Amino acid sequence: MALRPKISPLDPGIMVAESQISDAAQAGGPFGRLDNLPRVRMADGPTPLERLSNLEAQIGGPALYAKRDDTQPIAFGGNKVRQLEFYFGDALSQGADTVLITGAVQSNFCRTCAAFAAKLGMDCRIQMEDRVPKNDPLYRQSGNVLVSRLLGADLTIFPRGEDEEGADAELEDLAQRLRDEGRKPYVIHLAPGHAPIGALGYIEAAREIARQIEAQGVDPTGYVVPSGSGATHTGLLFGLRVLGIETPVLGICVRRGADLQRLRLIRRCAEIAEILGISSPVTEDDIQITDAFLAPGYGMLNEPTREAIVTGAKTEALMLDPVYSGKAMAGFLDWARSASADDCLVFVHTGGTPGIFAYGNALNEACGWDDG
Ligand SMILES: Cc1ncc(COP(=O)(O)O)c(C=O)c1O
Repeated sequence: MALRPKISPLDPGIMVAESQISDAAQAGGPFGRLDNLPRVRMADGPTPLERLSNLEAQIGGPALYAKRDDTQPIAFGGNKVRQLEFYFGDALSQGADTVLITGAVQSNFCRTCAAFAAKLGMDCRIQMEDRVPKNDPLYRQSGNVLVSRLLGADLTIFPRGEDEEGADAELEDLAQRLRDEGRKPYVIHLAPGHAPIGALGYIEAAREIARQIEAQGVDPTGYVVPSGSGATHTGLLFGLRVLGIETPVLGICVRRGADLQRLRLIRRCAEIAEILGISSPVTEDDIQITDAFLAPGYGMLNEPTREAIVTGAKTEALMLDPVYSGKAMAGFLDWARSASADDCLVFVHTGGTPGIFAYGNALNEACGWDDG
């Protein structure tokens, strides 16, 4: 489970300045451990923490902010950039030349992985799981699929939708074939039971946010984040608690119901604690999730999400996708509408921008456009 604490031998052009955290308390302990893990840095500064004044005026109550991780650099950005910085650090420290990853047809993780591989001169094999019952050519060829192809990734289809272990096993088989050919493959697993390396990126994000709210004089009373694999959700929650920040983090389920997701998140926190060599500061009561915005299921648009995507775009020019950030915005709006003027809510915008084009037909309809 433990990663080797070694910095990757990277092209200096890709490295950026070390974290400028000067606070010794933050730099020591689990953060000191984090800083010594191999990492490929693609971003060279914090993403904005932006006030959503137009949305505040429309809702009339709490202060509202967005942590704009959709603006992360490299091929449409998003939350997976922070996660892949640690995966690719680990891959390079093992001498890998090819990265294997699995995800939905419109996976942002796979697209961002292809971008890292292109930038680092590595090969990328993407396994696209047929999770969403959509035969629409836009869904199957545009959005993230198109971007991954442009980035030079090799794409194959995995016909079973809900089989995380099976998808991982298929990648392992491919990795073995590549090893037999003399290649050095690195597998990014999907199912729990593997080191949650991606979550480390959001522990780092918690430190970034802690510094930002202090500098900007913002005092959040809640964070909202999509909860899929759980890496973003658990990383942020874990990182905030390590820093002694007790603010609630509400996860919006985008993949599975709340009962299953809760078990996954508890397990993830234990695995993160193991990597960092500390006991988990996250209690079971800390895990706040809702699946109220999930129906009819993963990758399927619903009415609150449609409304959230249109509202986010028209008030704040935020681009939200139907699978992840749009559902999270539906949960954020729901909380904001019942919150008081003393509250201050932060929406963690995890990106997903290319997904907008893959769902172009549904979103055109959502805007009231009718080609008939
Ligand atoms: C845009 C976007 N937001 C949120 C998520 C969910 O993040 P996590 O898998 O870390 O729970 C994903 C996952 O693929 C994503 O692509």
